[in-house]
Amino acid sequence: MKIKGKEYKTIWFENNIVKIIDQTKLPHDFVIKDLKTVDDVINAIKTMEVRGAPLIGATAAYGIVLALIKDNDQSYVEQTCKKLINSRPTAINLKWAIDRMRSKLKGVNSSEILEIAIKEANYICEEDIKFCKKIGLNGLNIIEEIYNKKKDTVNILTHCNAGWLATINWGTATSPIYHAQQKGIPIHVWVDETRPRNQGANLTSFELNEENISNTIIADNTGGILMQRREVDLCIVGTDRTLSNGDVCNKVGTYLKALAAKDNNIPFYVALPSSTIDWDLRNSKNIPIEERNSEELSFIEGLDDHGNLKKIRIYPENSNSLNLAFDVTPAKYITGLITEKGVCSASEKGLSKLFK
Ligand code: MRU
Repeated sequence: MKIKGKEYKTIWFENNIVKIIDQTKLPHDFVIKDLKTVDDVINAIKTMEVRGAPLIGATAAYGIVLALIKDNDQSYVEQTCKKLINSRPTAINLKWAIDRMRSKLKGVNSSEILEIAIKEANYICEEDIKFCKKIGLNGLNIIEEIYNKKKDTVNILTHCNAGWLATINWGTATSPIYHAQQKGIPIHVWVDETRPRNQGANLTSFELNEENISNTIIADNTGGILMQRREVDLCIVGTDRTLSNGDVCNKVGTYLKALAAKDNNIPFYVALPSSTIDWDLRNSKNIPIEERNSEELSFIEGLDDHGNLKKIRIYPENSNSLNLAFDVTPAKYITGLITEKGVCSASEKGLSKLFK
């Protein structure tokens, strides 16, 4: 997708360096950052210079490449894999990507291992692009159906950033939107601000603007009234981990939007590539929910009158705050899952039909 009219992917590998778009600088600055070591990769994932489930998986895969460039000793690489998996706990794509690299590299001799690792990490990225594009085409049918009935602008609500910046390209929740726009369907997106880190306002709105898609940022609590007023036709969100029973773990606040959508009889879809399915965990209570630094709540960053980036405290210094980063939406509130293989019900049966 485009930034200032130029096509980008979120990550690429060049001259033994991992190149990323530093998302902590968006929307005010566009900075391409070099990751040269595994520690750079772990830091980029932890500080959310890269973020979004598919993108952190791909970044971790390149982390193994950087580890191998330094030293291809088995125990060092294994130690690195563990550190990478632990860098953010909730999105399953991290473990998925590391497991895939591990199994590809198992038993490979040291003269070939680096070349094979680079190829596999590149392939993880290419596959993600292909899958996100297919998600877009499958989700397009849903939008088109609504448009054919309504014959007017389709209003879509999304939460957090499940856009191309969270993947390698296209995005998950946004891919059907980009495909609808390309087909000439009039679209307007309600963008949940997504406190505390404002991924909706800073990233989703930014990327939609760059692609000339009409969008409006709303405070996270506004979705309910818009749904009551029938100003939302459809919700599409992403996910960090979807269980085989269809329960969806995504950015905190997703659950409340799903409840409001259910109460107002508005379709609520979740878009995901198969790398986000956790086939092992049976109970969503066992999903590790990331708790981030409470300063993400009590401080806010933005431009001052002179255009300088400033970070200011917005809460009383002696107040406590709690920063849970994700929540779980039970399958019963989800109209369907939009995947690279098609759209299915959020259930064991639905997912098995497509993937097993
Ligand atoms: O904490 P973040 O910004 O990494 O959370 C990201 C999300 O919750 C996205 O919706 C999810 O990763 C899906 S990305 C295609």
